Amino acid sequence: LGRIIMNLKKMVGIAAAEEVKDGQILGLGTGSTTNYFIEAIGLKVKEEEIKVMGIPTSYDSFLLAKQWNIPVTSLDEHDIDIAVDGADEIDPDLNLIKGGGGAHTLEKIIDYAAAKFIVIADDSKCVDTLGKFPVPLEIIPESRKTVFSAITDMGGIPAIRKAERKVGPVISDNGNFIIDAEFKKIDNPIQLEKDLNSIAGVVENGIFSQMTDKAIIGTSNGIKILK
Ligand code: A5P
Repeated sequence: LGRIIMNLKKMVGIAAAEEVKDGQILGLGTGSTTNYFIEAIGLKVKEEEIKVMGIPTSYDSFLLAKQWNIPVTSLDEHDIDIAVDGADEIDPDLNLIKGGGGAHTLEKIIDYAAAKFIVIADDSKCVDTLGKFPVPLEIIPESRKTVFSAITDMGGIPAIRKAERKVGPVISDNGNFIIDAEFKKIDNPIQLEKDLNSIAGVVENGIFSQMTDKAIIGTSNGIKILK
């Protein structure tokens, strides 16, 4: 099963790269699916000699872009034509949960800034209702206790994210804590995205509502496009 999902991820990564035109500025998402997109862009740069620039959403994506000789730029210098990113859950209205890799703050800044935002995933990520996957939040460390009680009041169960090979909490690329809040079933992702961000100390949450222009989904029967 692992190998099949890997092939689906590669398939959608390549499909998204086919939408990219010479001269475009790209938002480079984070995660095992987007890695295939970055690789496919790297090959286009090498073999078709297209000139594109990437704005990475994490340190990992930055390193991968460098590895593939994709020139890197920033939002200060360029506007983004297309951002391509993965997701942890996708609902039928293309609301997302992201941040399984803890990179959702920069992902949201970059994906939301793009003229076009494409999400790529294998079909195991598609759900009827968001919420089985806990919502990641990046928080200022000092706010842990008050954020936990606010989330509990909203019906969520918060937990500090820990890493396997590190003691203590996971520290984000921005030096903050990552927490995961389990809501089980999110009836109104648009509202919850706003409510979570209104808690003092929350830098950003991993609900991406109403921002996805298109989803490229890999299934065992080929590619499915959702708009
Ligand atoms: C990273 O913070 C996430 O938002 C990823 O985009 C998401 O977890 C999808 O990752 P995979 O493609 O590895 O499943």
